[in-house]
Amino acid sequence: MSAGKNILCIGAGYVGGPTMTVIAAKCPEYRVTVVDIDKNKIEAWNSDRLPIYEPGLDELVHRTRNKNLYFSSDIEKGIREADIIFVSVNTPTKTFGQGAGMAADLQYWEKTARQILANAEGRKVIVEKSTLPVRTAAAMKRIFNGKTHDASLEVVSNPEFLAEGTAIRDLEKPDRVLIGSRETAEGIRAREEIVAIYAHWVPREKIIESNVWSSELSKLASNAFLAQRISSINSFSALCEATEADIDQVAYAIGTDSRIGPDFLKASVGFGGSCFRKDILNLVYICQGYGLDAVADYWRSVVEMNEWQEQRFVRNMLSSLFNTVAGKRIALFGFAFKANTGDTRESPAIYVARGLLEERAHVVISDPKALENARKDLEDESENVTFETDPYKAAEGAHAIAILTEWDLYKDLDYEKIFQTMVHPAFIFDGRNILDHRKLFSLGYNVFGIGKPFLKH
Ligand code: UDX
Ligand code: UDX
Repeated sequence: MSAGKNILCIGAGYVGGPTMTVIAAKCPEYRVTVVDIDKNKIEAWNSDRLPIYEPGLDELVHRTRNKNLYFSSDIEKGIREADIIFVSVNTPTKTFGQGAGMAADLQYWEKTARQILANAEGRKVIVEKSTLPVRTAAAMKRIFNGKTHDASLEVVSNPEFLAEGTAIRDLEKPDRVLIGSRETAEGIRAREEIVAIYAHWVPREKIIESNVWSSELSKLASNAFLAQRISSINSFSALCEATEADIDQVAYAIGTDSRIGPDFLKASVGFGGSCFRKDILNLVYICQGYGLDAVADYWRSVVEMNEWQEQRFVRNMLSSLFNTVAGKRIALFGFAFKANTGDTRESPAIYVARGLLEERAHVVISDPKALENARKDLEDESENVTFETDPYKAAEGAHAIAILTEWDLYKDLDYEKIFQTMVHPAFIFDGRNILDHRKLFSLGYNVFGIGKPFLKH
């Protein structure tokens, strides 16, 4: 092992795991170790049943594990041996004290910084992978400066832009890689060491270098812009339903304008995932801290529009089902926050399920990958919830089906057969607009899409 080629990643989650696997695969001369405080998670990474589902991940882990990719629980040893330390621990929204419900909870981040400090000797580059409030690197640097003996720790920001479900593809062919550092000789040297890793497979012109604050803030800004597009199109979906315009036609028409572009204009029951809500609320909190209330309100409305869209979906279900779902069996197809992942963090399905349960419905949840997480999310509601992998069984005896995740498998089900087993009149609420609504209508269903005319018998 040549000097400078020992990488450690602290945090073996949805970001740390796939990112390190791709780095190990692309950089055979580096030794990559991933550590986590959660021993069960590390055990799972070392087993045949990885802790997360991500297309293409299994194969890549099998190719690299125990060659130059290692999963371990010995964080201190990892820190001592590493030249470069990626920090990918979670930074959830604070649930207590000042900034509760908005600010980022940095306790894990700070604990990790102190753990690095306690065990580090010599020169190391620390890489912020987790999404953090702008200027966190400064705080980290201050913690590091507290050390009396010989350790030189330079903090570099390298935010992750991968989306779940396409993580491996996003990592292998990123639109760009962003690396920010201090603009001192030491900072630039550290930045170049991180550039050298990505340069193994990412074209040089796609590796963007910047100062550390721009890099931190760009991650928050990217997520805010992406979420804003969804809230914008979802606001128009409500207007479409009121005016008999069709949201897919509107999205197509505006998306062909090259200045607007076609991506992220799919109307839905709402956006979920671990990042959008958390990062925008964090941005709002930061803006308030700088006295920029108009900016804070502007971005907060993106989150509010999303909450409104989720509420609207449940309200539409309720009013269509004759204003009562009490005692009715309702099948939810999909619980993950998007297709191709088992992750349910901030999934709109959680909101919809809870809304229906509040109305005393009996909710049957089906999902090909997310049932384990769904069970945990609805632990307190186990009485009126059933979990069923087979969508045909889930729909048996149901008054309505709601599509909440855009899994391909739901497009190809035999809806004629399903119709026969449901209570009539039967309803489909397509929260992802993935089904053929006219065809379902001709089979006898009442069909409600997002931003589409309601097809009622
Ligand atoms: C990441 C980033 O950390 C987050 O800031 C970003 O916004 C989204 O992506 P993610 O990988 O999705 O989060 O989170 P998670 O899957 O929860 O992984 C974090 C891991 O860090 C967990 O496995 C947790 O056990 C571990 N951890 C947490 C530590 O190893 N040490 C700690 O002190 C805290
Ligand atoms: C997001 C960012 O895309 C990624 O760059 C960042 O690193 C982390 O946050 P992720 O949360 O994994 O990634 O998923 P993403 O594909 O962005 O989807 C977020 C949510 O928006 C999902 O619930 C998805 O279903 C929804 N969505 C997305 C829509 O409703 N409509 C769209 O057009 C696109």
